[in-house]
Amino acid sequence: MIGIFDSGLGGLTALKEAIRLMPNESFVYFGDTGRVPYGTRSRDTIIQYTEQALRFFVSHNVSSVLAACGTVSSVALEAVKQRYPFPIIGVVDGAAKAAVKSSESKKIAVIGTAATVSSGSFEKAVKKLSPDAQTLGVACPLFVPLVENGFISPDDAVTLEVAKRYLQPIKDFCADTLILGCTHFPIISETIKKVLPSVTLINSGYEAAHALLEQTETQPDKSGAVEFYVSDNPENFSSVASIFLGEDFCGGVKTVEIQNY
Ligand code: DGL
Repeated sequence: MIGIFDSGLGGLTALKEAIRLMPNESFVYFGDTGRVPYGTRSRDTIIQYTEQALRFFVSHNVSSVLAACGTVSSVALEAVKQRYPFPIIGVVDGAAKAAVKSSESKKIAVIGTAATVSSGSFEKAVKKLSPDAQTLGVACPLFVPLVENGFISPDDAVTLEVAKRYLQPIKDFCADTLILGCTHFPIISETIKKVLPSVTLINSGYEAAHALLEQTETQPDKSGAVEFYVSDNPENFSSVASIFLGEDFCGGVKTVEIQNY
């Protein structure tokens, strides 16, 4: 069983691709819906929340964990990952690799939460692979509550207006590639494309699922079951998750008292 977690719905962008790549694997997904957003919080708080999610996965006896959250991957993972008995991967390296591969102009922009952008994690990973790349990071914190509240239709005027305002510096920078460095953002990629039609979007959740596959020994005898847990009322999570995952979404979302871990 593989554990995947995020502050809320964003990690579903990784889960969706992981289910497609490993249909027989079992997954346990945790969305910390009671404490979303993470991206405006301090490093210490993000580390504390990350450790609680990881202890929850210890109790599920998982074989590995995907931190399907740009904020956790950027701010907390390095500090905690040695303390756990399973490999833990984040979303930064896979996205940076895909962006470098896709970019011709070597002008690569990153959007994420405030914590992710101020860490410079994606930019550093890009420059490690391509030292002459030019990068620009832009924080887009309002996208997270818009997604959590279901404002995800490409025709949603509010989300489009916010996107226009946030993405103007990326237009001005003339990036040819944009890393969606928060896993919530691919859920509104159609809206982002409306504002940046000629920019290649890199889905950090999708890329992380491929990185997960590379390090997972597939065992065809597993059940392919997916369990969902959230830290607060499951209703909102269930309704947006059903729209996003479609028929892959198996319903039954349980609540966990994550502060007890
Ligand atoms: N999906 C999380 C991320 O990738 C959302 C962050 C948040 O909760 O602010 O950063």
